[in-house]
Amino acid sequence: MNRVVVAVAVIVLGTVGYAVIMLSNTQSPPPITALAKQSSNARNLLSDKIIPNTDLPPDGTRSLFDHLVAQNDGLPYPFAKLIALLREQNPAGLDPVTLLIPNGRSLLKGQADNAHPRLVVAADYDGNNTPVGLGKATRGALFLGFVENANEIEVVSYNEAAGRFEYQLVQNYCKGCVPRIVYARRAICLTCHQGTTPIFSQRPWNETNGQEATAAAILAARGDNKPYHGVAISQPLANAERFDQLTDIGNFYHVSQRLWIDGCGPDGNECRRQMVLLALQYSDNPGGFDAASSDANRLRELQALSFPKEGIGVPESDLQNRDPIGEKQGFKGWLRSLITRDFKLGEGAKDNEDLSAFEKLPPLRAELDPLSIRSPKQNLRANDIDGVYGLARFFTESDSKTLAEHNGNSSAKLLAKVRALPPEVFAAKPFSRVAMMQVLTGKSFEYCCIKTDEMSPPVASGVPPLAIKYHPELQPFADYCFACHRGNPAKRLNFMAGDTEQAVLDSIKKKTEIRDALDWERYAKTDKASKLMPPRDSAQYHAFEEAGAVGEKTREKMREFVPGMFSF
Ligand code: HEC
Ligand code: HEC
Repeated sequence: MNRVVVAVAVIVLGTVGYAVIMLSNTQSPPPITALAKQSSNARNLLSDKIIPNTDLPPDGTRSLFDHLVAQNDGLPYPFAKLIALLREQNPAGLDPVTLLIPNGRSLLKGQADNAHPRLVVAADYDGNNTPVGLGKATRGALFLGFVENANEIEVVSYNEAAGRFEYQLVQNYCKGCVPRIVYARRAICLTCHQGTTPIFSQRPWNETNGQEATAAAILAARGDNKPYHGVAISQPLANAERFDQLTDIGNFYHVSQRLWIDGCGPDGNECRRQMVLLALQYSDNPGGFDAASSDANRLRELQALSFPKEGIGVPESDLQNRDPIGEKQGFKGWLRSLITRDFKLGEGAKDNEDLSAFEKLPPLRAELDPLSIRSPKQNLRANDIDGVYGLARFFTESDSKTLAEHNGNSSAKLLAKVRALPPEVFAAKPFSRVAMMQVLTGKSFEYCCIKTDEMSPPVASGVPPLAIKYHPELQPFADYCFACHRGNPAKRLNFMAGDTEQAVLDSIKKKTEIRDALDWERYAKTDKASKLMPPRDSAQYHAFEEAGAVGEKTREKMREFVPGMFSF
């Protein structure tokens, strides 16, 4: 009898031991709390000095997301409306690329499951240029991740003027809540987004609803086939493929900046001029581009003067595919179930600061863990001219047309212009599509968006929201107005800003238009009706309506609070 027990024990222990060896053949990464403390500026590269790794964007620059929201006069709610905004902005009227990821590997993975999957969105359009402004270039430059249970949208978007990706959060994104758009603690995001870029898994993307089994699990858990926050439950695998491509495009924006700055070096203005020259040749005629031309070889020579000896790495933005459903099946699945446990919805980090809770979740196999240090995909050398293709990527199709229009439809003329530009144009600064378009057309094109000095200042995460203690008269403004008028990236609409109750009160009193904006009775049937607040299609308006007579009283009090000036 004893012998049987021992034999069984030996088999079980042996199997578990085998399982441990088989399932974790790579070394586990250090915990996220340790990784987030490491300074990613330690490399001391020229590009690190020129493109800093600060949490807030460099002065006078903002993320594409901020520009989008400011230009739209505020952040749409609910999430389906944010998706709709990206569709409306797309000249082709197409939806952005969307996917559902119920069992993923992101920081907030513990807050998502089949019934409440994480939604990821990638913008995929280039806006058309107009005679005064350039269209938004969003491909590879604007990504969202929304986890409903965490009431939070994560945002990765490109900052064109600073040449880097910004990491932001929309916190408190829920019905009747006051959302806050903040810049995240960058070091935390970069533990997984190691190249300072977007990341995504590789083919066949089993985590996403592009795979039937994952879509079926979501359908079963949700109980109906209705879109989830505007995203279809089942999607073609092509969406996952496109999402992956767009993250790779974004990844290469970063590499292009490094090739531009580090590849050509501090005094490499002629090298950068040559890179632009070739990029324009390539854009003009990719099929006829000769990578062995004398111009291309000239770039190689110029790069050789200052290219970093160790090369310039292309960060590995691809994670190995993970198949959360397949992992549970078969003999291997059974083995794995002996050594790991599943986590339940709500475990782990509830927000992006909650790292110790994240660490308590069962670990992933090291080779699947986004925290594991990934070596570069590729290491570029002075002989590689990938910077040319990288720079070409910054320009849109509309840009090529605009450039042709301003240069007599002659690429020879355009190239002659590049050769004649003063060297300062090619100084060691972040490459900016907008600035380059301005010099190449001789026109002071506006960027797609409003100027940064018309935007409210960027906010870092961790700054507490306003606590209303001494001035209860502020409460209705908090309930009905803060969502759109506090933390609005457009300065003009940020008139309920202020760090203290008194400061907020003062700002509200100064905004005399509030009195009329709340005078529904007087303006409802006039041409000013559209200026009444809150906007008719907002949740806050419906809340007022639901409050009936009490709502009317509240509105009256809010009006009395603001001196009347008849400035409507
Ligand atoms: C523990 C690892 C981890 C951390 C930390 C992390 N992310 Fe991610 N993130 C991922 C993974 C994995 C993906 C791709 C798959 C997915 O979304 O589930 C991703 C995807 C994203 C996406 C969609 C675009 C893309 O890159 O695929 C956004 C937006 C995003 N993260 C924002 C953030 C922000 C902002 C932070 C910091 C507050 C952050 N992430 C921190 C793992 C992480
Ligand atoms: C859902 C978002 C939203 C909510 C909630 C909201 N507003 Fe607005 N508000 C806007 C937008 C968008 C504009 C800009 C409209 C335009 O310029 O056409 C605006 C404009 C205004 C203006 C005119 C500002 C100017 O200088 O032109 C006032 C005043 C105003 N809101 C007051 C309020 C008050 C008071 C509340 C709360 C009772 C409120 N708003 C709630 C979105 C909102």
